[in-house]
Amino acid sequence: MHMANPYVSVLSEDFAADPYRYFAPLRERSPVHYEPAIDSYFLSRHEDVKRVLTDHATFTTETLQVRAEPVMRGPVLAQMTGAEHTAKRKIVVRSFTGQALRDQTRAIHANAAELIGPFLPRGRVDLVNDFGRPLAVHVTLDVLGLDKKDWQQVAAWHSGVAEFITSIVLTPERRRHCLECAEQLEAYLVPVIEHRRRHPGEDLISRLCTAEFDGVAMSNRDVTALIINVLAAATEPADKTLALLFKHLIDHPDQMARVRQDPTLLPAAIAETLRYTPPVQLIPRQAEQDTVFAGTTVPAGATVFCMIGAANRDPDAFTAPDTFDIHRPDLGTARSFTAAAQHLSFGTGLHQCVGAAFARAEIETAAGMLLPLLDRVRHSPGFRYRETGLYTRGPAALPLDFTPVHEGATGHRDDEIPGLAE
Ligand code: HEM
Repeated sequence: MHMANPYVSVLSEDFAADPYRYFAPLRERSPVHYEPAIDSYFLSRHEDVKRVLTDHATFTTETLQVRAEPVMRGPVLAQMTGAEHTAKRKIVVRSFTGQALRDQTRAIHANAAELIGPFLPRGRVDLVNDFGRPLAVHVTLDVLGLDKKDWQQVAAWHSGVAEFITSIVLTPERRRHCLECAEQLEAYLVPVIEHRRRHPGEDLISRLCTAEFDGVAMSNRDVTALIINVLAAATEPADKTLALLFKHLIDHPDQMARVRQDPTLLPAAIAETLRYTPPVQLIPRQAEQDTVFAGTTVPAGATVFCMIGAANRDPDAFTAPDTFDIHRPDLGTARSFTAAAQHLSFGTGLHQCVGAAFARAEIETAAGMLLPLLDRVRHSPGFRYRETGLYTRGPAALPLDFTPVHEGATGHRDDEIPGLAE
């Protein structure tokens, strides 16, 4: 692999074009990389990243007060600590596991079928914009119990919120735009919250409205923040992972053939996609005291960014880390979606992702439906693959050509997929 200059700025265009080129040199020669323009430290070794994410006393989520709270309209889960965090996290976890997850998997299937119908006969799809992104928003709205007819509006507001949280540098105009998006999203949510307080259902908003913490119900602000928290956390990484899964399988035809032959390999393919190209590339924390990593002191008060992409490719954590291999002996597929995961794509420690099982169900269901329907799936001619994003990262578009498979060969009833029923 080409050894790039480790002293490149992570804010440079070169780094943004292909951060993966820089991960080995950073880990080896500058594992505690200081970025003066934003007065922040970037850690790239697996061991150091894991230490930051699990040493909650030394590395706090205080930085989210500035990075997230203004657009979340209140404190998000990742900011909370102690009993409050445990209690509120439990409410969210319960809504994405067990029986709730089984019901959601049916809803994921129905949403995916609806989106596949229109593009299937055409033999062409932009997997990000025609399928993955709307699917991720639709299923999240289902879980929250929000009206899907509003999805494009909600998605537009949500993208302003996401831009605020995931921008390392934001111009005053974009900052204003993001804050307006958040205010409009809040204005849309508050009447829904008030209605659910009077008429609760089974959805997550109702559960948040009826739950009590220390005998006190959550305020509209608390509930709004948790809804926006779930919207922001659930949609972007899931749609990026689906697109990246297809990209890697298309680029590795032998592994694509194995997954097609044996769909039980899909979870391994998803786990390896998450390790190889994590959609959440950076996790911020704040140092509470001076801490030494690899001989360099990170001072108290400093912002620290954990580089998940670099940590997942650390040869001390995975053998041949720059190779995409769904059969790698150190993958540990089953534990990849749990707290015991060796990759750090869902974070680790107290704030580890609560949606990992849901994300797995969503991607496995969608990919399991798509693969048998899209024969000879390949990149559309002339398309130049490009990833964007430093904080969350994935392809902005993924145009694919394929031969549609009809009749019986799919394992789905033809009337389940609108395009097949005719
Ligand atoms: C492939 C998909 C996903 C990836 C890669 C991912 C990644 C992450 C990461 C890295 C964190 C840790 C943030 C930190 O430590 O500060 C996190 C937290 C979180 N995620 Fe996910 N996520 C995914 C899907 C989802 C889904 C589908 C949901 C909701 C259903 C969700 C809800 C959350 C929430 C609420 C938190 C905050 C947990 C806490 O602070 O206690 N995520 N996620």
